[in-house]
Amino acid sequence: MPKKLKKIVLSYSGGLDTSIILKWLQETYKCEVVTFTADLGQGEELEPARKKAEMLGVRDVRIVDVREAFVRDFVFPMFRANTLYEGQYLLGSSIARPLIAKHLVSIAQEVGADAIAHGATGKGNDQVRFELTVNALDPSIEIVAPWREWAIQSRAQLIDYAERHQIPIPKDKRGEAPFSIDANLLHTSTEGKVLEDPADIAPDYIYQRTVDPMDAPDLPEAITIGFEMGDAVSLNGERLSPAALLTLLNEFGGRHGIGRLDLVENRFVGMKSRGVYETPGGTILLAAHRGIESITLDRAAAHLKDEIMPRYAELIYNGFWYSPEREMLQALIDMSQTYVTGEVTVRLYKGSASVIARNSPHSLYSADLVTFEEGSGSYDHHDAEGFIKLNGLRLKNWAARNSKSGQQGWAQNS
Ligand code: ARG
Repeated sequence: MPKKLKKIVLSYSGGLDTSIILKWLQETYKCEVVTFTADLGQGEELEPARKKAEMLGVRDVRIVDVREAFVRDFVFPMFRANTLYEGQYLLGSSIARPLIAKHLVSIAQEVGADAIAHGATGKGNDQVRFELTVNALDPSIEIVAPWREWAIQSRAQLIDYAERHQIPIPKDKRGEAPFSIDANLLHTSTEGKVLEDPADIAPDYIYQRTVDPMDAPDLPEAITIGFEMGDAVSLNGERLSPAALLTLLNEFGGRHGIGRLDLVENRFVGMKSRGVYETPGGTILLAAHRGIESITLDRAAAHLKDEIMPRYAELIYNGFWYSPEREMLQALIDMSQTYVTGEVTVRLYKGSASVIARNSPHSLYSADLVTFEEGSGSYDHHDAEGFIKLNGLRLKNWAARNSKSGQQGWAQNS
């Protein structure tokens, strides 16, 4: 017996799966369903989603353009930390989930719904991210995850359910299971089907927003990104909103084949999975941000950030955006960005984004200190001698002990 619910807010894409979920919720819980569709810059027309929801009997259809908030309040704060999961993944899907779930919660509160529902499967990370966010923002709201509850076990049963309920089935959805694709302003991720064997090379047709670096222009292109307190604010001298800036960076990156990643990652729920990611603008932004930090951050501050970054990335990947520990780390990261202001020039060329120039009004870089020529005298070469002597003291002591016992370094049995 399903629990009794009076109103459910569904995260609705307008696609086949969530349309079936919509119908199933109405039938199973016999209550009103409100749909929420977010424009995250996935590059799809969203008005068809409204028509489809209305056709399926939804009276309250919400479609919200959240692109600016997505980049300003989620993507940019994450980029202040140079965040990468397992050394490579820019977290394009992970960072969008808390935003979607936040909207589901606020709509639920507004319309007096007692539950939210999502279309994430029972095997992935996304279910965890949606639900942990709801738990953190409103513990009174219930969660319905149809993929974990219903009897539908196969693609064929899903199509059959759609047919029996007059849900239109796009032609290309009738055959085998489609790729699992998730797209937004930051990235496109593709999983499943031919990608499930990590020993097989991903076919070229799965790429959607980047050209093959081999087909990218033979001439490099240089762009200049302006930063203020760690966030990108301009491109080639023109001030742009966060979403407009990332949109443009995506165009540059896509054209030059930048930001493709073929990755086997460790999901929070336990298994390894193989996915292909395209993050053109984000890849440029990461390089540029590291470029501006290289002249504006103190060494120890920079290294401390780098130490906590994997931990911060794991929190976002695992769905703990709204958690006390993520907010504590964010405070540290945000503080580090106080002087991260200036301009970085990046050269885009056949899949690479290389920093070629950087400048800042708050630069810590001192040509006088580092020069191979005669400096003004603030650095005394003799200081280096004592510095090295004291650092070498314990190494000499260690080496002497080892040679007394006839050994070198850690060698035990050789
Ligand atoms: N594996 C990636 C992540 O966990 C991407 C998930 C994409 N979601 C999807 N429905 N295809 O962040």
